[in-house]
Amino acid sequence: MRLAVLASGNGSNFEVIAQAVKDKKIDAELTLLFSDHRDAYVLQRGKNFEIPCESFELKEFPDKKSYETALLRLLQQYEVDLVVLAGYMRIIGKDLLAAFPNRIVNIHPALLPNFPGLHGIKDAYEAGVKETGVTIHYVDSGVDTGPIIAQGSVEIAKGDTLEDLEIKIHQVEHQLYPQVLAEIAKDFHLNKQ
Ligand code: GRF
Repeated sequence: MRLAVLASGNGSNFEVIAQAVKDKKIDAELTLLFSDHRDAYVLQRGKNFEIPCESFELKEFPDKKSYETALLRLLQQYEVDLVVLAGYMRIIGKDLLAAFPNRIVNIHPALLPNFPGLHGIKDAYEAGVKETGVTIHYVDSGVDTGPIIAQGSVEIAKGDTLEDLEIKIHQVEHQLYPQVLAEIAKDFHLNKQ
């Protein structure tokens, strides 16, 4: 199974996925890292793992459709089977969705359907809930609405700061995402036989 990771910023999730592929815990090839920010730190991580890195920005295109067409061409050129969103801060457009039906996964830092959108951790923290977590799901045309694959929960203890919660959420993300991708890779190979 050929994976592409799409990421916009830091890339700590990319890092654990790349390490799990390298350690053969995920039976897949990491064929491409794409970032929509040319200066994103994740690209440095990609180079360290010697994974092909590509980057271009929306503002370099006349409109969103041509940006997405270029991204789709890139994914096709690398013969990608599964698109892994790891901190990719853009909505996936309909052409990409149609080209990869049930083949795009995302990680969201809350227990969906609660706290969708850009600030899942902060929104849960400010709502004062006792439990939040992490969701991995297939991507559909909504914002954080696609079919849920797996969830991991995180307790918000009395006295936790927002930073404490962020650390706890990322710890769960870094466990869960490689595990789920390993399962998807296993199913992919079984279905191919
Ligand atoms: C993660 O919290 C993920 O859930 C959200 O964006 C963040 C990306 O972090 N979608 P990183 O770039 O992988 O460190």
